[in-house]
Amino acid sequence: MNASDLNALRLPGQPHLHWRGAELWMDGVRLSDLATRFGTPLFVYSKASMLSALAAYQRAFAGRKARVCYAMKANSSLGLLNVFHQAGCGFDIVSGGELERALAVGAPPASIIFSGVGKSRDEMRRALQVGIGCFNVESVGELRALNEVAQSLDRVAPVSLRVNPDVDAQTHPYISTGLKGNKFGIAHRDALAVYQLAASLPGLKVVGIDCHIGSQITIVGPYLDAMDRVLDLVQAIEAAGIPIEHIDFGGGLGIQYQDESPPGADDVWAQLFARMDARGFGQRAVMIEPGRSLVGNAGVCLTQVMYLKPGEQKNFCIVDAAMSELPRPALYQAYHHIVPLQQLAANAQGQMWDVVGPVCESGDWIGRDRALAVQDGDVLAVLSAGAYCMSMASNYNTRPRPAEVLVDGDTARLIRPRETLAQVLAGETI
Ligand code: LLP
Repeated sequence: MNASDLNALRLPGQPHLHWRGAELWMDGVRLSDLATRFGTPLFVYSKASMLSALAAYQRAFAGRKARVCYAMKANSSLGLLNVFHQAGCGFDIVSGGELERALAVGAPPASIIFSGVGKSRDEMRRALQVGIGCFNVESVGELRALNEVAQSLDRVAPVSLRVNPDVDAQTHPYISTGLKGNKFGIAHRDALAVYQLAASLPGLKVVGIDCHIGSQITIVGPYLDAMDRVLDLVQAIEAAGIPIEHIDFGGGLGIQYQDESPPGADDVWAQLFARMDARGFGQRAVMIEPGRSLVGNAGVCLTQVMYLKPGEQKNFCIVDAAMSELPRPALYQAYHHIVPLQQLAANAQGQMWDVVGPVCESGDWIGRDRALAVQDGDVLAVLSAGAYCMSMASNYNTRPRPAEVLVDGDTARLIRPRETLAQVLAGETI
């Protein structure tokens, strides 16, 4: 095998990465320069890539009453949130912590929607005090709690119910959320009765309906089925005298990690709006909560090869990133493409490697059976690392979390310094 055969030189789903000669660049910045300047492991994000992913939604939404609320669980770093805030997005949050992040970048509270099955009363209180746009409520218990909290503050909470449409998003079981067996949402057959309850509680005002069927969805069919199921409910709820101002259709659109070919956001929404138009709901306000499709392919994780450990059955390439910052392979057997920042000469010998981290677990792998021509000290880029990597990073093995850099054209700005060990240990006592 020589380097030109190496699968590793492909850049799936990455219009903002390119080879200049033998070197990998993001937009106008050479990635090896960032590894030298900021160290590894390092997350690097392309602002242009985030904005072009957003533009696909905006094209479909032109002329419609529609708002993108970025689901910040995918990546909640303030530097990225600010890009979406400046571009006119609202935010979908799932905790009091995420609420403070949205407020920290100056998001108008009315553009914030609060999702999640387990909001605490303290979180509800703070969200009501600042005046968020909508609570997406997932159970009768939560509905009653929110009513009580709102009444105790002399406020009225704007609510949507998250309904479970019972459609199969055909994605990984851990990230499928719209089936009967999932913990999420209110069952389709119970929804009307729960809406009637919501409408009767004095601390609540029904403003919408919400659904989210899963993540990394790569086909349109489940979305169309879910839209039909939601519109059926809207008809029934409005026939019972409860107006539904907006339809929140969640997130979930997939990205290309390897060989997937998910539809574009503009394509999906052209089809969904056609369905809404055909059923007479074309004028209804729409909200969506995309996460991964806005940031997933905008980010890479740079990691340095520490040791090469050829073995009897497997060759291990030990790098300085691990499941602590790249948890998706360990959690979902997820594939992330891996490329060296520098292509070796055309006659370099490649070998098969398992790329693994320093964490003491066999589950700590980043890529298995990868054809790579690598040497000690090389820096690799783990692709499609913008979503659900840094936001899920942990301090497992007492590893400080990496730094993050935002690339804007030919400039690179540190948006989060590398965590220090002093910060990791702060607050603990013997
Ligand atoms: N809205 C709700 C209510 C959600 O639960 C989620 C994701 C989203 C929106 C955003 O979905 P997206 O557009 O990003 O697919 N850690 C997993 C993904 C978990 C998704 C959880 N919910 C992974 O790394 O694949």
